[in-house]
Amino acid sequence: MKQQKYILPESEIPRQWYNLAPDLPTPLLPPLGPDANPISPEMLAPIFPMGLIEQEVSQERWIDIPEEILDILCRWRPTPLRRAVHLEKYLNTPARIYYKDESVSPAGSHKPNTAVVQAWYNKQEGIERLTTETGAGQWGSALAFSCSLLGLECKVFMVRISFEQKPFRRIMMQTWGASCVPSPSEETAAGRAVLEKMPDTPGSLGIAISEAVEQAVTDPSGKTRYSLGSVLNHVLMHQTIIGLEAKKQLALASETVPDVVIGCAGGGSNFSGLAFPFLLDKINGAEIEVIPTEPTACPTMTRGPFSYDFGDIAETTPLLPMHSLGHTFVPPPIHAGGLRYHGMAPLVSQTIVEGLSTPRAYNQMQCYESAVLWAQTEGVICAPETSHAIAAVIEQAKLAREEGKEKVIVFCFSGHGLMDLVGYEKYFKGELSDFSLPQEDLQTYLDAIANLPQPEIRKTGKW
Ligand SMILES: Cc1ncc(COP(=O)(O)O)c(C=O)c1O
Repeated sequence: MKQQKYILPESEIPRQWYNLAPDLPTPLLPPLGPDANPISPEMLAPIFPMGLIEQEVSQERWIDIPEEILDILCRWRPTPLRRAVHLEKYLNTPARIYYKDESVSPAGSHKPNTAVVQAWYNKQEGIERLTTETGAGQWGSALAFSCSLLGLECKVFMVRISFEQKPFRRIMMQTWGASCVPSPSEETAAGRAVLEKMPDTPGSLGIAISEAVEQAVTDPSGKTRYSLGSVLNHVLMHQTIIGLEAKKQLALASETVPDVVIGCAGGGSNFSGLAFPFLLDKINGAEIEVIPTEPTACPTMTRGPFSYDFGDIAETTPLLPMHSLGHTFVPPPIHAGGLRYHGMAPLVSQTIVEGLSTPRAYNQMQCYESAVLWAQTEGVICAPETSHAIAAVIEQAKLAREEGKEKVIVFCFSGHGLMDLVGYEKYFKGELSDFSLPQEDLQTYLDAIANLPQPEIRKTGKW
C-alpha cells in the first residue's frame, strides 16, 4: 500500500513566514501615488494597521509569527500533504503527485491563513471594524470567521453575480456575524457611480474593492480599516506557511526538491504560499518548473502586459507594478469567481517577468472535466478555482507518462467546492462553454491604462 498522507504534529508548525522580496534577483518596483511618485508607508495608514504596513515593505527574509496567531492557526494547521495515488493510477503516470490540502480550514480554503493574521494585527491597534470585498465568497467567509474569533465587526461587499448565484457563502458570513451586501451597492459613492452608468452590471472585484476602501477611510471614528485577501506582499507572505509545511512533509515522504510546483492564481496568494519557499531553492540553483494557472476568460498573466495599474475601478488604490488586464475590466461570469481579478500580485508578476514562474491559462470546460475526474478518483470535490491547478497537474502527469519520467508534482488544493455545486450542475446540464477573452475587448481595457506610468522591465535573463 502506498502512503497517502503526511501529517505534521502541531509542534512542527512553522514559526516564521518567508518573505520573497529580499531574495528576488531584481528588486520589486515601488507602488506609486497619484503624483506618480513612490508612496510612503504612512500614506497607507488610513487603510491598513502599521503592523501589516511594516510587513508590506519589509526586506527581512524571515518574520516571526506571534505566538497568539500560531495558537489560532493550530485550529486547523498544519494541513495534510496528501499523495494523489488514485489519480496517478488512473492516469497510469510515473509522476508522484502531492497536494497541500487547504480545504480543511474552517472556511474551506487557504484564505483564513491570512484573514486571522490581518484581524489579529488590526485588533492589536484598537481597530473595531474591517471592511472587505469578496468574489465567490471564499475570502469574505474567511474574514467573517476571523473577525468572529477576534471580536471585530466585519462588512463584506460581495460581487453581485456571486451574491445572487452563491447564497451559501453569504449565509456562512452571516453565521459568523458579518454583514454582506451585493456590490455595486447604493451605500458608497463608488457603488452609486457604477450603478448609474451600468445598472445591470454583474459587478467585479475592482468595483467591490472601491466600495470597501471608501467605507474604511470615510469612517469618522477612525476605527475601521480595510482588509485585502490577496495581491499585497504581506498577504502572500502569510500564505507561505503552506509551502514551508509542504517542504517538511515532502522530506517525510523522502522526496527532495519537486520537479513541478503548481497553484491557481486569482490575485496570487495560494500560488505564492506554496511556491515562494520553493522559488528560494530555484533562485539558489534548483531546477523546478513553477506554474501559476488562470482561466482563459481572465488571462491576466498570459495576456495582460506588465504595467502600472490601479487595483480598483474608482482608482483609489496606489498604482501597482503588475500584470493587468486594465482596472476597468469586467470579467465574464465564469464560475471560478476567485480567478476573475484584473491584476496579479506585484511579487508574482515580478517572478513572471524574471522567468522564474511560467503561467498557463485553461478553458472552463477542461477545468470542470479535470474537477470531475479528480472527484471520481481522489474523492474531494474541488472549488472551481482549484480546478485550474488540477487541469495543469493532469497535463503534467500525462507529459511525464509520455516522457517516461518519474516527476514529482506538488500543487496547492486551495479549497473544496461544496458551496459551488451550482457551477457543477450547470456543467452537467451542458449549460457551460469555453470563453476566451476577445482581443478587441482586451485592447479596449488596455487603451484605458495606456497613459499610466510604464514600469521598467527588470530581469537578469538567468531563467
Ligand atoms: C478556493 C480558491 N482558490 C484560489 C483562489 C484565488 O485567490 P488567490 O490567487 O489569492 O489564491 C480563491 C479566491 O477566492 C479561492 O477561493
